[in-house]
This record gives sequence, structure tokens and C-alpha cells, in this order.
Amino acid sequence: MQAQKKILLVFGTRPEAIKMAPLVKALQNDARFLAKVAVTAQHREMLDQVLECFDINADYDLNMMRHGQTLSDITGRALRGLQEIIAAEKPDVVLVHGDTTTTFAGALAAFYEQIPVGHVEAGLRTGDKYAPYPEEINRRLTGVLADYHFAPTETARQNLLASGVADANIFVTGNTVIDALLQTVAAGCELAEYIDAPVDWSKRILLLTCHRRENWGRPMREIFGAVRRLAAEFAGDLEVVCPVHKNPLVRELAAEILGGVPNVHLIEPLEYRPFSQLMSRAYLVVTDSGGMQEEAPALGKPVLVLREVTERPEAIAAGTARLIGNKGEPVYQGIRELLTDDAVYQAMAHAANPYGDGRAAERIRDILASRL
Ligand code: UD1
Ligand code: UDP
Repeated sequence: MQAQKKILLVFGTRPEAIKMAPLVKALQNDARFLAKVAVTAQHREMLDQVLECFDINADYDLNMMRHGQTLSDITGRALRGLQEIIAAEKPDVVLVHGDTTTTFAGALAAFYEQIPVGHVEAGLRTGDKYAPYPEEINRRLTGVLADYHFAPTETARQNLLASGVADANIFVTGNTVIDALLQTVAAGCELAEYIDAPVDWSKRILLLTCHRRENWGRPMREIFGAVRRLAAEFAGDLEVVCPVHKNPLVRELAAEILGGVPNVHLIEPLEYRPFSQLMSRAYLVVTDSGGMQEEAPALGKPVLVLREVTERPEAIAAGTARLIGNKGEPVYQGIRELLTDDAVYQAMAHAANPYGDGRAAERIRDILASRL
């Protein structure tokens, strides 16, 4: 019998964990592999929610989150901690995901140990160095370090080719977020058990999330201000539900601007199972999240993106997502249009799934089996 291939999966934040979870399971349930998990815990509670939801026990946990952590804090701590783990484990490949600072540090640590790197969700690009910040540069740097590039879409593959990556090392697999979403939505759950805010579920639900670094400060103030205005204007038939990211900067601003508005419900970050139910239940999704731009279209929910540029043009091409920027008036007008113009709403509210068929993790597993 062939020796098992040892895979070390590295991640640290909520979205990476959600998107790596299907791959952790696919590899751990396959006798060809010995799969180990190292988390930096760049996020703590928000990561733990996902580990629990998908029943993942990390083999290593750097427990590195600090309030007020800077990009260089995260990079330095993750690089040193991960290099030690990689040196001790000597895996056949290190898998990293997407574009966080954990991703980049994990790829660099593997390179320092001369271990091959597989990049899951490779090839996303806006072409703008500072948007999203620092993710656009994290994914480009990870692309330079990676040996295997698992691109979710053909567009991502083209971006990698344009960056000089050899075609033979690019694999279009779909995005593992669709694997995670389909498995989770199918499991179902009772939303009321997780949300105790007095939401009137008979009204239209606007699901709002906002956390990106480039939106911190004035843009976020304007975004929340626009939502506050709309909540008052549509008080008769609109409820805003906003699970607030744990970042204190985000929480302070959300509380200052949206706190106390009767039909705006600021709630704690939700576990993935109820969150996916909430997305299914929403009338409209307004977000600056990367992952939600992939999930909302798969659920047939229009998504208005609080950014000037996106690395996920497929959802826009499919007609289910629109960029409304991060300035007060365009955000207000963009949301208002969907609340008042049924034809525009209906044109966006169809299920489109440019990001995969729910089998991305098994494709990546089989590619690893044949390439290692
Ligand atoms: C990080 C990623 C971003 C990703 C996002 C997903 C980087 C630089 N940023 O941004 O790409 O889109 O995660 O959410 O890699 N906090 C807690 N508990 C938690 C998580 C965060 O208290 O479970 C607070 C801490 O005070 C922490 C702060 O949030 O210092 C910021 O966390 P950090 O990971 O540095 O940045 P994010 O904005 O979450
Ligand atoms: N999500 C969640 N609970 C929440 C908010 C988001 O489980 O309260 C999920 C969401 O479905 C998506 C991911 O977290 O899969 C997005 O995370 P985030 O917005 O923090 O990061 P990004 O996608 O922008 O990198």
C-alpha cells in the first residue's frame, strides 16, 4: 500500500474556516491522506464558532488574536508560529486559503521550510493594490509562493495565467464555500433559537454586514447613516438585521449610529448554520463581505456590495450582485431602488451559482492524490 500523504491545512479567520471545512472533512475521511489542521486563531470566538459547527478539532492552535492587533503583529506571530509547526510536521503540502494575513504568513512559512504550497481560492483579483486592503496583496503574494493553484472559476484561472502562473499548475475546482453552504443549508435550523432580538419576521428583512478595513471610519459611518435613514423611511415594512463583527472599531460605530433604532437589530455574530438560514430568509443582502457575494447568489438573494471594486465579478455578470460603493448617497439610493422598484428587485432575485456545484473539496482532494 502507498504511504499516506501528509497535508497540513492552515487557517485563522471565520471565512477561511468555513471554506476550508469541507476540505478538512474530505481529506480526513480519505485513507490516502493524513490531514492535520493548524489554526493561527487570528480570530478567536468567530473561528471557534465555525470549528464547532463543522466539528473540527485543530491539531495546533497558536491562539494569537489580540485586540488592536496590527497587520505586522499578525504576520510576525503567524509566520514564527507556523514555521515551527511546519518544521516539526514536515507535511507533503501546506494548504492555505484565500487572502487573509494568516494565508500569506502560512504560505511564506511553508516556503521557508521548502514545503510545497497549495492555494485554495486562488486567482481572485481587483487589480487595485489597496482594495480590498490588505487582501489584494495577500493573495498576489500567496500566488507567487504557491505550487498548486485551486481557482474557483475560469476568471480566476485567467487572472493566474496573466500573473505568469503555468497552466499545468492551475485547477478550476469551484469554490468550497458552495460545498459548505449546501451542506449547512440542507441541515436546517430554527432561527428563533439563535436570535432573541425582537425581529418582526413578517416584514422584509435586510441583512447587513460590514467589516472591511478600507471601510473603517468615514465610509462605514456613511454606510450606517444611509441604513439608518432607510430604516426610518421604510419603518412600516422593513427590519434590518445586522450581525456585528467582533472588531471593536466596527462595534462602536454600529452602536453609535444604528443602536436604538427600533427596526434595526444589532446582534452578535451568528453561527454559520443560523446565518445561512438568515440569508435564505432575507429579502435583500447588503454587505462588504467576500464570502457573502458568493453565497447570496446561490440562495437567489440580491446582494448589494458596499465596495468600489470587487474580485468577484461573476455574481455581477450573473445579475444577482451590484456594487453600490461605500459613500452615503449612492449606498442610500442603491438600497432604496431595490426596496421600491419591484422589477429591478425581481431581475436580481434569481438563483445563480457561478461559484461551483458543491463538489470543489472532492476535486481538490483528488488533484492532490494524483499530484503528490
Ligand atoms: C480579517 C481578515 C480579512 C477577513 C476578515 C473576516 C486580515 C488582515 N484580515 O479581518 O481579510 O475578511 O478577517 O472577518 O487578515 N475580533 C474578536 N474576536 C474574533 C475576531 C475578531 O474580538 O473572533 C476582534 C479583535 O479585536 C481583533 C479585531 O477583531 O483584533 C480584528 O481582527 P483581524 O483578524 O485583525 O481583522 P478583521 O477585520 O477581522
Ligand atoms: N458569517 C457567519 N456569521 C455571521 C456573519 C457571516 O457565519 O454572523 C459567514 C458568512 O456566511 C460567510 C463568512 O462568514 O461565509 C463571511 O465572513 P466575513 O464577512 O467575516 O469575511 P469575508 O467573507 O469578507 O472574508
